[in-house]
Amino acid sequence: MEKPSKIAPAKGKLGVLLPGLGAVSTTFMAGVELVRKGEAQPVGSLTQMGTIRLGKRTDARSPLIKKFVPLAELKDLTFGGWDIFKDNAYQSAANAGVLNPQDLEKLKPFLSTIKPMKAAFDHDFVKLIDGPNIKKGKNKYELALQIKEDIASFRKTSRASRLVTCWCGSTESFVKPEEVHSTPEKFIEAMKSNHPAIAPSMLYAWASVTSGVPFANGAPNLTVDIPAIQKLAHDHNVAICGKDFKTGQTLMKTILAPGFKARMLGLEGWFSTNILGNRDGEVLEDPGSFKTKEESKLSVLEYILQPQLYPQLYGKMCHKVRINYYRPRGDNKEGWDNIDIFGWLGYPMQIKVDFLCRDSILAAPLVLDLVLFLDLAQRSGMRGIQEWLSFYFKSPMTAPGLYPEHDLFIQSMKLKNTLRWMKGEDLITHLGQEYYD
Ligand SMILES: NC(=O)c1ccc[n+]([C@@H]2O[C@H](COP(=O)([O-])OP(=O)(O)OC[C@H]3O[C@@H](n4cnc5c(N)ncnc54)[C@H](O)[C@@H]3O)[C@@H](O)[C@H]2O)c1
Repeated sequence: MEKPSKIAPAKGKLGVLLPGLGAVSTTFMAGVELVRKGEAQPVGSLTQMGTIRLGKRTDARSPLIKKFVPLAELKDLTFGGWDIFKDNAYQSAANAGVLNPQDLEKLKPFLSTIKPMKAAFDHDFVKLIDGPNIKKGKNKYELALQIKEDIASFRKTSRASRLVTCWCGSTESFVKPEEVHSTPEKFIEAMKSNHPAIAPSMLYAWASVTSGVPFANGAPNLTVDIPAIQKLAHDHNVAICGKDFKTGQTLMKTILAPGFKARMLGLEGWFSTNILGNRDGEVLEDPGSFKTKEESKLSVLEYILQPQLYPQLYGKMCHKVRINYYRPRGDNKEGWDNIDIFGWLGYPMQIKVDFLCRDSILAAPLVLDLVLFLDLAQRSGMRGIQEWLSFYFKSPMTAPGLYPEHDLFIQSMKLKNTLRWMKGEDLITHLGQEYYD
């Protein structure tokens, strides 16, 4: 990819389109509003709180990322979305139970104005929920065209100069890439014939990309991870990224596993359980949706630990992931890990991690960063898969034939080096020999 010769300024409003106005979306919008009002800090957001070192360590140049690259400002964000339920964002946030009643009441006037557009929904892909706010059409192609109309009318009514879509809808049933996903032409034919391998999330992706709107996929669904949409993203000069926000347990895995590997500690097994009681957890009770999530969660260790290169350390590792819906826990998930490692002479040791986390509190700043960085990429003329945003995902998208980089620290370095590269600054290799000349 060519280095951007110039980055267009972030002029005007940035419209954020969210398919799925559930726990993550509403927590994200609520947080942006509280930060804009000066009533909260954007904790967890690299674009808002992170700095970037430029030049040598002795240069003492570490500006805030948002001062270094021209990102949209929070005051310029405006929101829209779709959901299968008619609840506005206030009602949906109240139902999700993430925000405390004081924050919720403060945000009522703002959140109540955000009302979902009718969703393109297919019960076969999300079996355990159903709602009344659904588009009608004779085939999937018609539904996708209706989404395009929604995007065009949101662009007009919101007076946004640029748009970004971030899928925050439910996890869909597992779909394997098929022939119908291979080219834009076959994809259109498949939409017209209501092919069962065309998921609703793909309709939103197709509508966004062909409308020139960048698309991030926060769920583990295939969605934009198919050649047809990638080719369209290339042809329409649109940035895309995915998939599956890297939040609780997988975040911990991609922090710990690189450490074990760096120290050449062996891994006998890693058993992960999750209990959660939000709507996401309810959807994951369905074996089809669970399979999509499981695939996304399982791949991480294989790629980080590279058992093919270290058969003595990781060749026999046993990795299991379980997710159970347990209503009393609500959005406050418990991710419990039992890790069996071994050290010098093969002596075994155990590590237990019990992460009492808040799923949507961890995910919301990722939505913000992805929206701002995708908009930046778009204004910089960067199209197609944005691998530098792997930092945010459990299953990062890569060019065909390239294995994904899962190590959080490599991902963070890659992201920051990409920002330096975009702005023509020296990349940082951490070699540091020049300090000893
Ligand atoms: N919270 C996290 O930490 C986290 C981490 C990784 C991935 N995710 C993923 O993010 C997504 C959102 O999570 P959440 O906790 O907000 O879930 P949620 O169930 O609260 O919200 C999802 C919303 O999507 C709606 N929906 C389903 N299908 C739709 C469609 N076709 N069109 C429009 N709306 C649709 C549902 O009605 C629901 O309101 C899920 O796929 C989840 O797996 C979340």
